[in-house]
Amino acid sequence: MQKSLLGKRPIHQTKLNNELTNSRPLFMFNKLKQLKPSTLAVLVQSVAFLTVLIIFKFSYLIVNVGVSSFSIIDFVIMQSLLAAAFSYCLNMAVWWRWIHLCFPLAMLAMTHWQLPNEFYLAGFIISLSLFWTTFRSQVPFYPSRPIVWKQVAKIMPKDRHLKLIDIGSGLGDMSMYIAKVRPDSQIEGIEIAPLPWLVSRLRVKINRSKAIFKLGDYHALNFADYDIIFAYLSPAAMLALWQKSSREMKTGSLLISLEFEIPGVNPTMRIAGNDHSPAIYVWQI
Ligand SMILES: C[S@@+](CC[C@H](N)C(=O)[O-])C[C@H]1O[C@@H](n2cnc3c(N)ncnc32)[C@H](O)[C@@H]1O
Repeated sequence: MQKSLLGKRPIHQTKLNNELTNSRPLFMFNKLKQLKPSTLAVLVQSVAFLTVLIIFKFSYLIVNVGVSSFSIIDFVIMQSLLAAAFSYCLNMAVWWRWIHLCFPLAMLAMTHWQLPNEFYLAGFIISLSLFWTTFRSQVPFYPSRPIVWKQVAKIMPKDRHLKLIDIGSGLGDMSMYIAKVRPDSQIEGIEIAPLPWLVSRLRVKINRSKAIFKLGDYHALNFADYDIIFAYLSPAAMLALWQKSSREMKTGSLLISLEFEIPGVNPTMRIAGNDHSPAIYVWQI
């Protein structure tokens, strides 16, 4: 077998790999993968819709049945299955496949029930204030569990006053727990979505917690003001988080991430996850 001068890989294999990576379908696939999930979702449903239209238009050629023989339910089921199949082929996350499968069916059900317009407006406002910039940040709301808060409290050095902030504090549970068990320290949370932030502010008043909640984007913070940054975000946010942390955080301070690692940066400490909680990663700056 002929060897490449630059390495052990045979020449014909290298050529094949180049052909593969340069091939048009793979190039298109990679381009599609670079789109934001929300844009890709609209594209998937639109392509599924057009495909169903084409299939139904030409169905009489294959099964000798005219488009008028199909009901709207046939149309919607086909659209659901195709959209789910496309999202599977595009390797979208599992929950996106379910969303694509259910979305056309949910639309059909909603039209059937003829709900008043105010219902949709209320749904839109609630979703907007809960998820806010999720389509851009790719960090949706999902809460961490008490087992995680206890682990974070254990990680915190006991011998001094600390400033900790939960970036993306959601409903505020994590910060309120830490504020309770570490009354000597200053515990804050920052949340970009108005509804969870409002809920956390109300809960602080009801529970008389010492936690401080701010409405805003954590990118606008100066991380140098804190000893500990706690993050439960998403894989999409981790690289930029590391760049900001390593630029701004003080030497010796801690960056704690629940579930999501920073690509290519080994953590100083890793607490293994279990059935009740994902792993916790700690980087000492
Ligand atoms: C996975 S939840 C974590 C909630 C909370 N930290 C906990 O442990 O229960 C992530 C939260 O981050 C918020 N978020 C996303 N991007 C943000 C940003 N740039 N600034 C502040 N909050 C953000 C989201 O709205 C969401 O509520």
